[in-house]
Amino acid sequence: MPPAARNILIRKARPADIEAVYYIKQEQFSNPWKKQSFYDELDHDIAFFYVAEDGSTHEIIGYIIFWIIQETLELHDIAVIEKNKKKGIGAQLMDFMLEIARARQVEEIFLEVRQSNTAAITLYEKYNFKRIDVRKNYYTEPVEDAAIYALFLK
Ligand SMILES: CC(C)(COP(=O)(O)OP(=O)(O)OC[C@H]1O[C@@H](n2cnc3c(N)ncnc32)[C@H](O)[C@@H]1OP(=O)(O)O)[C@@H](O)C(=O)NCCC(=O)NCCS
Repeated sequence: MPPAARNILIRKARPADIEAVYYIKQEQFSNPWKKQSFYDELDHDIAFFYVAEDGSTHEIIGYIIFWIIQETLELHDIAVIEKNKKKGIGAQLMDFMLEIARARQVEEIFLEVRQSNTAAITLYEKYNFKRIDVRKNYYTEPVEDAAIYALFLK
């Protein structure tokens, strides 16, 4: 296990985390969500919004947002702070999501990702997600196709 992966706490996000989450989002996305969108996620009944906190410094170093609607899970967002990438944190967030999915009898997981996002696509494929479709010009700024990935748990 990579060194930084050992001392991470994954816990529910709370309002005080949103500034740090937004910083991570802005750091890496060309078309970031509005800050309010993150606050909204805290209040949705079907939304699961968790942060990865460094166990020593308590810094927020990653987050994951997914929705569970009956037997379907939609992964909406996962990100790790730039300086802590490639240390196994993204994989820990994926493992955490899959634990919840199994506990809740989720049967299928869907996500969409920019075709050029090699890091995320490699992560998803490592978890056996399969590309099932492409949505033309789905993203803006810059315009890009979305690859739709699915993982069937049953
Ligand atoms: C995708 C992301 C969450 C991965 O987080 P991470 O903590 O760096 O990933 P990990 O260190 O846990 O890596 C797990 C696996 O992901 C894949 N991976 C991660 N970064 C990669 C990269 N830059 N290139 C290729 N594969 C990569 C590898 O398969 C890796 O396994 P390995 O270490 O055995 O090779 C991170 O790159 C990120 O925040 N990207 C920006 C946000 C984003 O694009 N989110 C997806 C939105 S759909």
